[in-house]
Amino acid sequence: MLGVASNGMMAPEAYRSEAFYRAELDWVFPSSWVFVGHEQWVPEPGDFLAETVGIEPVLVVRDPDGVLKAFSNVCPHRASLLAEGQGNCGRRLVCPYHGWTFGLDGRLLAIPRQRGFVSPVDVSDYGLRELRLDVWEGLVFVNVTGDAPPLIDYLEGLPELLAGHDIARMSLGAFLDDPIAANWKLVMDNAICDYHLGIVHEESIADLVELEGLDEQVGDTTAVASVPWKEAAMPPDPWPGLTGSAAEGSLGCFVFPNLHVIGFPSGGATIMWWTPTGHTSTRARVLSLSHDADADVRAGTELLSRVQREDFDVCEKMQIGVQSLGYSPGPMHASELRITVFQRRLLEILEQALDRADRATDGRHAGAGR
Ligand code: FES
Ligand SMILES: [Fe+2]
Repeated sequence: MLGVASNGMMAPEAYRSEAFYRAELDWVFPSSWVFVGHEQWVPEPGDFLAETVGIEPVLVVRDPDGVLKAFSNVCPHRASLLAEGQGNCGRRLVCPYHGWTFGLDGRLLAIPRQRGFVSPVDVSDYGLRELRLDVWEGLVFVNVTGDAPPLIDYLEGLPELLAGHDIARMSLGAFLDDPIAANWKLVMDNAICDYHLGIVHEESIADLVELEGLDEQVGDTTAVASVPWKEAAMPPDPWPGLTGSAAEGSLGCFVFPNLHVIGFPSGGATIMWWTPTGHTSTRARVLSLSHDADADVRAGTELLSRVQREDFDVCEKMQIGVQSLGYSPGPMHASELRITVFQRRLLEILEQALDRADRATDGRHAGAGR
């Protein structure tokens, strides 16, 4: 089977192959619900944010009625990007290349020197391609192919599990954005590995948690680690909406393919997501959220940044190690269980895509032979 080592884990080639990486961009990201940003980043009509989902440039825009929409960020004339970064475009999007102008509903409104085309152009033929968008707790997701299950189903038990944290009503706090010299899948494996917590994070967070009480639950598209905190680490005023494991420690919630939402007993949350930027490079972003808009976030940011550096360091070490021709993955610990959700789903999507491609090729050959 494609990219699978003898023990069922991802084969080392998958972490170093450019072709494998390209297949992930083409098939894994477009077919999934991918987190693209926080709703509070685009609060006003005309606010936009540009992101890339796999290979697809995506533009999220708030329309004049306050509704969020997602479009392919590609001009239908000659494919220029329509917008970059974040900003406000007013009531219309104007392509920076030849000035085609689009409404925030995606319709093409105006074309400079329209009568000069070699054949007449009907503006209704050239609107922006709208993409499927949905929002959960203020987190904006896009599904490029449009055929993923509804977001609420895709998130499995997470909406119920994190309901008490009331993430949608939190204020935005610290934001970190860093490069890592490692394949994004190594970074994801590490992000949802709980086996390394006591070693890599010995100096930062290991003392806060009861590693022996750690529990992992896995689904098809999500996986949850409930990590009980030591008494001394618990906040003096736990968030009143929390019960059960949410009140006793942190909940690390993975959403396939590249998002991790961590809910804390204080009621705060951390959103972490990792975007591939090449077959051996990844962009790591972290957003802290809190119910206390006036909280001094410096101490928390310092700790977060330290934990990130500890993780980056080990990911970059693994990227060098997976180049070795003598390496194949060793046994899996129970505290690495969440990795199976990530690897299994990714490999299934690629297998299915290859099957479809094979069938299409067979069909063409059969047709040619007639
Ligand atoms: S590429 Fe956008 S107007 Fe020509
Ligand atoms: Fe870590």
